Amino acid sequence: MERLQKVIARAGIASRRKAEELIKDGKVKVNGKVVTELGVKVSGSDRVEVNEIPLEKEVPVYFLLYKPRGVITSVSDEKGRKVVTDFFSEIKERIYPIGRLDYDTSGLILLTNDGDFAHLLMHPSHEIEKVYVAKVKGVPLKESLRKLEKGIQLEDGKTAPARVKMLSFDKKKQTAIVEISIHEGRNRQVRRMFEAIGHEVIKLKRERYGFLTLSGLKPGEARELTPHEVKQLRTLALDTSGKKS
Ligand code: URA
Repeated sequence: MERLQKVIARAGIASRRKAEELIKDGKVKVNGKVVTELGVKVSGSDRVEVNEIPLEKEVPVYFLLYKPRGVITSVSDEKGRKVVTDFFSEIKERIYPIGRLDYDTSGLILLTNDGDFAHLLMHPSHEIEKVYVAKVKGVPLKESLRKLEKGIQLEDGKTAPARVKMLSFDKKKQTAIVEISIHEGRNRQVRRMFEAIGHEVIKLKRERYGFLTLSGLKPGEARELTPHEVKQLRTLALDTSGKKS
């Protein structure tokens, strides 16, 4: 859902300020009804008209990016650091990331201009499985990894059950590589889960999002999702919610 004035501005009809004036002047209709309030939010399925003319919708686009480390998951950064949309300078649609990866986390992130799709995928009850590979300090004990699997108490509540697998460890260097699959998407969740069992995450990569992988991509490379993949993601998100309720 997005603010009406933003949607009008995005369609290229007017600046955000002019769009607000159009709304206040009663020139804007949503689903056939005049709207004069500025707070109103609309979704892609709402019909917006300005001066009786329907808004042309931007064609929805969907991308998968292999985000490198050292990139902000945002469309802009006031400090001028690299952001995920910098990898799409040739794309004219106004895309934004679905969810986020930390600045230091690499891996798979989706971007779109389809607000309903982003909302569907990010909704807590629809959260799709995400697989991370973490390099951690020390070699976690089996019991510690079990704790992560069962759910561990964090500041913002207990985590949902996870799948955890030790991939390798180096006794000499005192590091381990652990795969962890979670459905939630809390802020810095994987890092905080490992911290809670006493193992700092040194490196983190998201390898999988549902059925999507980074296959064929190098850091900084992106590809468009196929229409079939988009459809599959929608189905997956809706199925996931069904299973949990
Ligand atoms: N969990 C984290 O701790 N960081 C991420 O970027 C993603 C998941």
